[in-house]
Amino acid sequence: MAYSVPKLTDWSAEALDSAVAEVKAQFDSERDELLETVLKEKAKTQSDKVTSLDLKPFRDSWMSRKSGVITQLNEKWLKAAPREAKGQVGVRVNDLREWITEAVGTVLQNLPEISNTSITVVNKYFGIEPALDITLPGNRRKLGAEHPVIKTMNEIVGVFRNLGYSVEEGPEIETDYYNFEALNFPPNHPARDTQDTLVIANQQNKPLRDRLLLRTHTSPVQIRTMEKQKPPVRVVCPGKVHRNDAPDATHSPIFHQVEGLAVDTNITFCDLKGTLDHAMKALFGSSVKTRFYPSFFPFTEPSADVQISCIFCGGKGQRDGGPCRNCKASGWIELLGCGMVDPNVFGFVDYDTKKYSGFAFGMGVERIAILKYGVDDIQLFFNGDVRFLEQFG
Ligand code: PHE
Repeated sequence: MAYSVPKLTDWSAEALDSAVAEVKAQFDSERDELLETVLKEKAKTQSDKVTSLDLKPFRDSWMSRKSGVITQLNEKWLKAAPREAKGQVGVRVNDLREWITEAVGTVLQNLPEISNTSITVVNKYFGIEPALDITLPGNRRKLGAEHPVIKTMNEIVGVFRNLGYSVEEGPEIETDYYNFEALNFPPNHPARDTQDTLVIANQQNKPLRDRLLLRTHTSPVQIRTMEKQKPPVRVVCPGKVHRNDAPDATHSPIFHQVEGLAVDTNITFCDLKGTLDHAMKALFGSSVKTRFYPSFFPFTEPSADVQISCIFCGGKGQRDGGPCRNCKASGWIELLGCGMVDPNVFGFVDYDTKKYSGFAFGMGVERIAILKYGVDDIQLFFNGDVRFLEQFG
């Protein structure tokens, strides 16, 4: 007789917990009963050869869509719950569903082994009757692996987490305001041309600041963070960005960045230099040197490009008796942008520019992965060729 889940009248946390415990106890006793049946059968036939056991009714009584326990939990508990209790009930039903699915799977898989017998699992469900021979080797399933871009992104984030930074994320579809205006790119300013932007169609009837686009950098998350939170701020913002660039060996219309932002009293350019020097050493090895080269970004002043000593020629500019191709014989590789947060940006988020200063930086994840792993074509990250990807497993 299949188990019928009790209806609930008391929706308090204690009552719910004890109802959950009751379902689990019911499961345990059914499982023990099954095991006992197998052992009895085994004793009767005096052999550990083939004992016939149909596990389908057991499986169905817990898992079948029509009337299994999981379905009953949805009907009798979740749907019947009063609105105030839905959250409490939902959490428990979800947990219990997972618990049951796993427990049923374990029984189906392990019963032969636990009972130390070969069981013919009469599996009407699939219309086959496989004889389970537990001495046969299992099927090896291919394991997935972290994608090299995500792996590198996590590594970068990890370096800053260790420095006490927290992680913030923002939307990939942004407004003109967050992607440009609040970052001190005024409308029609030529600095906008440095980021070839993909815009969402049919936005002309909206004010410019509300028009939607695909974010060209992760810097808008700086603004979103500062709107939410007063200083001190220490955040990194990993994410996907989009630019209207034709794909080639070094460009991709979709790529990833990790943004960083620190705002507090007395933050200086020295803090920026020390932080990024540490991060580059953590990512590329302690012998790597950094150099800060004057640059321009509308939202930082002063701004710099960070270069690291070439990891291929050790900064010498020469390799194998000729000029190093990776750094064009300069000994330096340009890696990321950074600077002190422009006071105009603080103006947009209502931070007191007399009291606070800060630095920001942004780095391309693929660019760092390419250098770390010696990859010569950014497209390899996106083609989905397993022979490439499995090397990072
Ligand atoms: N957002 C800039 C870019 O994508 C990088 C940057 C971030 C520069 C933060 C300075 C400070 O090019």
